[in-house]
Amino acid sequence: MKQPYVYITKKIPKEVIGPLEKIATVKMWNGESEKVPVEFLKREVANATALFTTLDDTIDHSIIENSPQLKVISNMAVGYDNIDISTATKHSIFVCNTPDILNDTTADLAFALLMSSARRIVEGQQFIKDGYWKDWGPLLMVGRDIHHKTLGIVGMGRIGEKVAKRATGFDMEVLYHNRTKRDSVGEALNATYCSFDELLEKADFIINLLPLTDETRNKFDESAFSKMKNTAIFINVGRGMSVVEEDLIYALQNGEIASAGLDVYRHEPISNQHPLLKLDQVVLVPHIGSATIETRTKMMQLTVQNIVNVLEGKYPEAYVNKDVKL
Ligand code: GLV
Repeated sequence: MKQPYVYITKKIPKEVIGPLEKIATVKMWNGESEKVPVEFLKREVANATALFTTLDDTIDHSIIENSPQLKVISNMAVGYDNIDISTATKHSIFVCNTPDILNDTTADLAFALLMSSARRIVEGQQFIKDGYWKDWGPLLMVGRDIHHKTLGIVGMGRIGEKVAKRATGFDMEVLYHNRTKRDSVGEALNATYCSFDELLEKADFIINLLPLTDETRNKFDESAFSKMKNTAIFINVGRGMSVVEEDLIYALQNGEIASAGLDVYRHEPISNQHPLLKLDQVVLVPHIGSATIETRTKMMQLTVQNIVNVLEGKYPEAYVNKDVKL
């Protein structure tokens, strides 16, 4: 086998991996609908120099430590909570991601969920499909206004900024909560910093954009939902593990909040029997925040480019463990 050897955990279009095939042997998982099994992945990666992963691949210490040649793990996502960063760093392995190129696309989806939940788009379609539409009614399928309402952004990073920008077009008041107050961003986007609790109490729409860390795990729990307005709509395009799903379901079933729009879940994929699907006022999509052909193509290209750079002895374009040196 020509060295270096690169393993890719998903089917990636031929034209995207072209630059890699010029300089390495490339192997790809070919499964149609199931994920690469862990033991199989471990064997495939044992001799690999580079690994192309996606956010549903758990790359833990056992995989990393079983791969003595590994130089780079290139994750096709902005998030990297699926990778054991400290073990990778200990072994001088670059962990790469795809920041920035998905900001606008993900902000669009956050807004799409917000609008679908507020204006009952999915429920409305189901209502027609089920044959219930017999008459026009003054209060038929009434939702809630979006314009001139208060939006609360939890996690004001680069995607949060894009969400705030969209909100200004809807004449919304924007509140944000973040680990650190971001004065310049706040001013530029007319967004007001506030505590987590104040945001929960004041916002009509709450969008979670937090990455998953020990601090953000289970952040939206019973206590958080009980502080929200009864009319609040909760949107999650961050990570599912930040939300205690039973508590969210309880809050929705008991009228503590009005509705939710979710892109991410604690355990993905969720089954079609998931209790959230039994709630009419909830809009669910299958982790598609960055899923447009334009953005996903750029993400695949950057994931490849990050590997190419390392194989050519250069720093990757985007990597998260800055302690790793060439
Ligand atoms: C999506 O969730 C990502 O991290 O890119």
